[in-house]
Amino acid sequence: MASTSDLDKAGSIRRAPEGFLDPAQIAEVTAGRRGFLRNALLMAGGAAAIASTARAESSGDSNILELPVHSKSLGQPVAATGYGQPSKYERNLQRRESPGLTRVSAASVSFTPLQGTFGIITPNGLHFERHHQGWWDIDPSKHRLMINGLVKNPLVFTMDDLMRLPSVSRMHFIECGANTGMEWGNVAVPTVQYTHGMLSCCEFTGVLLSTLLDMAGFDKKNGKFILAEGADGSSMTRTISMERALDDCMVAYAMNGEMLRPENGYPLRMVAPGIQGVSWVKWLRRIEVGDQPWGTKDEVIHYIDLMPDGRHRQYTSIQECKSVITSPSGGQTLLDKGFYNVTGLAWSGRGKVKRVDVSFDGGRNWQTARLESPIQSKCLTRFNIGWKWDGGPAVLQSRAIDVTGYVQPKINQLRAVRGTRSIYHNNAIQSWKIAESGEVANVQVY
Ligand code: MTE
Repeated sequence: MASTSDLDKAGSIRRAPEGFLDPAQIAEVTAGRRGFLRNALLMAGGAAAIASTARAESSGDSNILELPVHSKSLGQPVAATGYGQPSKYERNLQRRESPGLTRVSAASVSFTPLQGTFGIITPNGLHFERHHQGWWDIDPSKHRLMINGLVKNPLVFTMDDLMRLPSVSRMHFIECGANTGMEWGNVAVPTVQYTHGMLSCCEFTGVLLSTLLDMAGFDKKNGKFILAEGADGSSMTRTISMERALDDCMVAYAMNGEMLRPENGYPLRMVAPGIQGVSWVKWLRRIEVGDQPWGTKDEVIHYIDLMPDGRHRQYTSIQECKSVITSPSGGQTLLDKGFYNVTGLAWSGRGKVKRVDVSFDGGRNWQTARLESPIQSKCLTRFNIGWKWDGGPAVLQSRAIDVTGYVQPKINQLRAVRGTRSIYHNNAIQSWKIAESGEVANVQVY
């Protein structure tokens, strides 16, 4: 285990690469100091900063002494028409594509800016995206969902049919199996947006899969698996065990109170709580019941882990317990010594998060963080803990424990079992190093 004093020894840490930032963006954000303090905190990959706490006195502050125009004249009329947008001062908070990843035609990823979201819900416009063959805005009046295979009555539903059925609304996280994948290869991705941003959390509304399978009269003896198939050109097909399908999977048409966004599968997607994101098939058009796993291309070539003995770990569907400090995090800068609220997210594909511990000295000492309500199964949980920065070097880490008693591992514990050739399913403890300058960087502490 590394201590803070060990951190500069060769091999125990590595810094994020230089020259990552878009200079035009930094210039724009740093134009005014007040703007810098607020906006830079929300920047995705930039020299973000965290302001010190309130000043004890404010004599001479023109922002108090001079009455601003918005306090003495008529504001704009209602913004009732159209779709509401965030403040122009929040425009740096965006989904972004990683400059470190090659974009292959329409097969792409955009990452959620976790450093700038609050609570546990991801706004729809900031939900991460992962498309194997691009996205489509499909006409709901032409979309159909077929249920076939080992069923008594094969069925075809229109969207209108589905929306007449009993519905449920549930909050769940979705995490791509490749989230935090770059860390396996010891690639220092600089910000939490790129280390952990293939993670989002919404309230989904739709019909339980068990309702549809019952309607179709699935074969209870031989129907051991379902196959979910998407309507895009990627031939995305994923096997889900019948046990999980009947437990809490749903066919969802809405997220966060409105219909799904096109890029997230409009008009219909699979919601497979706790299971890796690839099984959340978008633009869902068919569910087949079968007696064995299908072994489709995305189950035998992708989303599998190459183990040290050369074998493949397949059908690793559950996303194990994991957490990350989202602020302060890589790319941000602490401007002053003193108090900071350290905040982050924890989750488990096996149920609720039970506890989150936070260390400020690279894992030598741990304190229990406060978990904020609601704490729900297979959902993000927000944690907070107060910290007084003394201006010296520090390494911040969080470690989550779920209801099963599983403890989030350190990267070397994970590597001891899984080796270094994986891309997927990295749930190791994340470390952020704070330098005396206040700059926060991604480091690996073994
Ligand atoms: N479904 C279809 N039809 N096509 C896809 O490319 N991508 C999968 C999954 N479902 C995909 C899909 C992957 S790899 C992930 S991680 C999630 O969708 C991402 O969902 P999101 O784009 O809504 O975040």
